[in-house]
Amino acid sequence: MVKQLKKLTILRHPLAAVGGSILLAGAVLFSVLMLVDLTASQENPYRSLVTFVISPMIMALGVGIMILAMMLQKRKARKQGDEVTFRLSIDPTDPHYRKNLWRFLGFSAVLITIVIYIGTRAHEATDSVGFCGETCHVVMEPQNVTYHNSAHARVACVECHIGPGASFWVRAKLDGMRQLFATALDTYSRPIETPVSNLRPAQATCEGCHWPQQFYGDKFITHTYYRTDEENSPWTINLLMKIGGGNPRTGALEGIHWHMLTANKIEYVATDPKREEIPWIRIVNQHSDTVIYTDPDAELPNLDDPLTEIRTFDCMDCHNRPSHAFMPPAKALNLALSTKRISTDLPYIRQVGLDLLNAFYENREEANTAIGKGLYDYYRENYEDRYKDLLPLIDEATAELKVIYSRNFFPEMKTDYRERTNNLSHFVNDGCFRCHDGVKQDVAGRTLPNDCKTCHLIVTQGPSENLGELKSDITGLDFQHPEDIDEAWKEMKCTECHTAESGY
Ligand code: HEC
Ligand code: HEC
Ligand code: HEC
Ligand code: HEC
Ligand code: HEC
Ligand code: HEC
Repeated sequence: MVKQLKKLTILRHPLAAVGGSILLAGAVLFSVLMLVDLTASQENPYRSLVTFVISPMIMALGVGIMILAMMLQKRKARKQGDEVTFRLSIDPTDPHYRKNLWRFLGFSAVLITIVIYIGTRAHEATDSVGFCGETCHVVMEPQNVTYHNSAHARVACVECHIGPGASFWVRAKLDGMRQLFATALDTYSRPIETPVSNLRPAQATCEGCHWPQQFYGDKFITHTYYRTDEENSPWTINLLMKIGGGNPRTGALEGIHWHMLTANKIEYVATDPKREEIPWIRIVNQHSDTVIYTDPDAELPNLDDPLTEIRTFDCMDCHNRPSHAFMPPAKALNLALSTKRISTDLPYIRQVGLDLLNAFYENREEANTAIGKGLYDYYRENYEDRYKDLLPLIDEATAELKVIYSRNFFPEMKTDYRERTNNLSHFVNDGCFRCHDGVKQDVAGRTLPNDCKTCHLIVTQGPSENLGELKSDITGLDFQHPEDIDEAWKEMKCTECHTAESGY
């Protein structure tokens, strides 16, 4: 007798229905997240990771299961001597078929609900500041902690690091995945490299909130210093920073933000990766005149070499730490002393605190142990007779030193003020004096302005915390160096004496 050839439908295996449901759920998730991504006002590489990696993976899993189901079905057919076909008939009259269809649809509905719930939650999670800063806890800790102590603590990481626009979206996405792998495989550098080579130009990020034509005027800054003597003697300097910009009263472009006004374009070449050595500067001013300043003592960069990067000067060349400022120990101590979180009645606390903070520690525990012991040992040895009276002040100072350390020093990532110099200065780092050093000159031998009154006026200075006791002059005083150094500051850069080793 000839066996009746039964035709088995290739997708009739129960597993195929499971695969189909998963594929469907993945596809729905992808479409929903894609819509969210397209309509979102902010972009984020990690969020896109869910859209473009996780949901396609779900779809691929569904397809995989379907292929497996087809193979099983084929083998079953071959074993029974049957044939398989690709018939995808819809046969609502067949009750068996109808039952299966309902099962498939019901199962799909449940699965789609679950996948969408998990998917959108993952999507939201990766979009948050918490994800950027905390997921890779150790890696991003230095940037995350300083961020939360900065003026930008309410500005999302992506606002400065990615910004709007499609091409940066894709680039950031690829970069995000590279970073995820580096974190997983533990191949990231310690400290993380800076300057960030592919940071978005400021026009697209900072200027969304601070546009350059905005008038900033002058800014009054008070610095209170404490000397390293037994009394921790105070010294105050008040600076009137000529921030400038466009002056709405006179219409003139002036001051420090003069650099940023669109009519002027400054370009420079740095010969080191940290952009500290700048031997060549070109400026095209508002009248389209080009002036080039060069360092007569340095070897000039080869501008024809395609590897020479001619960088356009922007906000980040001065404000390189708007969100991640690592305070040098001297500055942090001055702040703690001026806000009375550490008492100036504790003899030599400025010096002893500086030494403790500035020492090298392998990790946080080692630092906390050393700081925890340091002050007690010092005062027990040197102020034996007053030790009991000083004890409450020592407790207070010890606690504050630990707080300062935890906010500004990250030994696990080898990141602190020594690694992260601030360019908005010339005191802790050459900063402005990278160009305004009185050395670089144009063909006529003119140097960039570097008189002390170019950028700020010193309106108050002297040995007191109390401004009322000091001489003030709104048109500017001549600088008086707090320590008698015989006018050496006129000949030398501040950074030649105020070095990282001294804690500044
Ligand atoms: C106000 C803008 C702004 C915000 C907000 C911001 N950053 Fe930054 N970030 C910067 C700038 C500017 C740099 C340094 C650029 C340079 O020097 O090349 C930087 C550098 C970094 C670096 C490189 C290491 C370093 O210290 O230079 C990392 C990592 C980083 N940021 C992570 C984050 C994380 C995580 C967040 C959110 C918790 C965040 N940033 C928020 C502006 C910002
Ligand atoms: C989403 C909006 C936003 C973006 C983007 C942004 N900022 Fe700000 N910025 C602010 C706000 C809000 C403040 C707080 C104003 C205040 O404290 O008075 C601020 C304060 C500042 C200050 C003064 C406070 C300080 O630290 O002394 C500087 C300088 C500054 N931003 C520079 C930058 C730079 C440089 C960038 C680009 C890397 C940038 N900002 C990007 C919103 C933004
Ligand atoms: C040549 C260096 C330089 C450049 C370039 C520069 N700034 Fe500034 N900016 C300064 C200095 C110096 C100050 C005042 C010092 C301070 O606040 O400690 C300042 C102050 C500010 C402030 C604070 C104003 C206030 O009233 O508190 C903001 C905001 C700011 N800059 C944003 C920007 C933005 C955005 C850009 C890019 C478009 C930019 N700056 C470019 C040097 C610069
Ligand atoms: C990359 C080099 C470079 C750096 C770094 C730099 N400047 Fe300048 N700056 C210039 C150039 C170029 C000029 C234009 C000089 C001229 O008039 O030809 C200028 C001019 C100025 C002027 C005079 C504007 C006027 O009214 O004529 C001020 C003020 C100023 N800079 C402040 C600063 C401050 C503050 C910093 C540090 C936060 C700084 N600059 C960092 C290159 C630089
Ligand atoms: C090219 C611009 C520029 C010139 C020239 C300049 N300064 Fe400054 N100065 C700055 C900036 C920017 C800061 C940082 C302001 C702040 O604290 O935010 C600063 C800060 C200071 C401070 C406070 C240091 C601190 O961080 O505690 C002193 C003191 C000072 N300047 C003195 C001088 C003296 C003295 C001269 C002349 C030899 C001079 N400056 C020339 C731009 C300049
Ligand atoms: C020849 C070395 C030398 C040079 C150059 C120099 N300083 Fe100082 N500076 C010192 C010494 C030493 C002290 C005393 C530190 C102490 O109190 O223990 C000091 C203290 C200070 C203080 C008081 C805060 C403190 O740490 O005690 C300020 C502010 C200061 N210098 C600003 C400047 C500025 C701004 C410049 C550049 C214009 C400059 N100094 C250049 C050696 C120098």
